[in-house]
Amino acid sequence: MFNSFGEIFRFTTFGESHGRAIGVVVDGVPAGIEFDEEFLKNELARRKPGKNRFSTQRKEDDLPEVLSGIFEGKTTGTPIGVVIFNKDQKSKDYSNIKDIFRPGHADFTYFHKYSIRDYRGGGRSSARETAARVVAGAIAKMILKELNIEIEAGVIEIGGVRAKNEDFEYAKKSEIFALDKEKEKEWIELIDKAREEHNSLGGVVKLRIKNLPIGLGEPIYYKLDNVLASAIMSINAVKGIYIGNPNAHKLTGVENNDEISKNGFLSNNAGGVLGGISNGENIEIEVYFKPTPSIFKPQKSIDINGNEVEVNLKGRHDPIVAIRGSVVVESMAACVIADMLMLNMTRTIENIKKIYQ
Ligand SMILES: Cc1cc2nc3c(=O)[nH]c(=O)nc-3n(C[C@H](O)[C@H](O)[C@H](O)COP(=O)(O)O)c2cc1C
Repeated sequence: MFNSFGEIFRFTTFGESHGRAIGVVVDGVPAGIEFDEEFLKNELARRKPGKNRFSTQRKEDDLPEVLSGIFEGKTTGTPIGVVIFNKDQKSKDYSNIKDIFRPGHADFTYFHKYSIRDYRGGGRSSARETAARVVAGAIAKMILKELNIEIEAGVIEIGGVRAKNEDFEYAKKSEIFALDKEKEKEWIELIDKAREEHNSLGGVVKLRIKNLPIGLGEPIYYKLDNVLASAIMSINAVKGIYIGNPNAHKLTGVENNDEISKNGFLSNNAGGVLGGISNGENIEIEVYFKPTPSIFKPQKSIDINGNEVEVNLKGRHDPIVAIRGSVVVESMAACVIADMLMLNMTRTIENIKKIYQ
């Protein structure tokens, strides 16, 4: 239960960190969309572990096998099934913590809820599952491309050091998806220092969605902002999001209101959403990631029998998860927008007439 997301554009993921494979079934994809497998591979490569020293050294090819839903390069309107076989599972790395709860991980809560301890890399709670979401996100992006809607993200803060510029084009080239070229060196030094000290760092990702039509979002309980929040908050290690100006709560009404002219809004403190509906401005969101919980310092914990123990982790882990996390943020946002576009088609009689008359 609860492994699916979306109403019309709806995906279901399956698989565990150290199981045979992970995968996704994406339903509700319209027929006739050019299926760009190279783009799908490229999206997975952006999230892939082991590609540089800023990510876990687990080496996965993350090559997708597309099982269904495509014919002669186009979507057929039937469920698209994609599987990614796990290759570099090292369950042995976890044998010393078989009965122990790792601080900051879901081990404690999963065990108390299900009475099963899948100690192999966290099982289903592992962020390995997010590769399947990136597949769904890539398919959603193929739909958005047809409408010229763009989704981009980058890192705006690492270890409490904030960017001064927001350059999304630079982030696309940067090894750490840095939005600020000037801060990149300092951020890399911070990450290297954290790794040397067997520690980890948190970070903030900035997401921008461009060229959205006015009118996406379904009040009251499927608002654009609350669904984006739910989608993004479901990503591992995300602790909060802010829609619009992250300082809005410190501003006065005079400062915060976006005045309107006949050419559009004069500012965008709202982050592109009013009353749960897109207002045609860019969607602007900040996503706050906690530091990677797996650190290589002795920590206090308990085992499944309640005995106090010292945890000494082995294995391979990201020194900061916000970097790879930014690709997952884009993917979840793309899935929400694809879903909202399709939901919106039937919300006025004029829209229905456009289809049937
Ligand atoms: C892309 C991505 C990669 C991650 N990689 C790791 C990792 O290598 N090591 C780790 O300890 N946590 C990693 N995490 C975070 C954990 O999965 C997460 O913190 C943990 O399951 C507990 O869930 P919570 O922080 O959401 O409460 C990653 C998260 C994301 C989004």
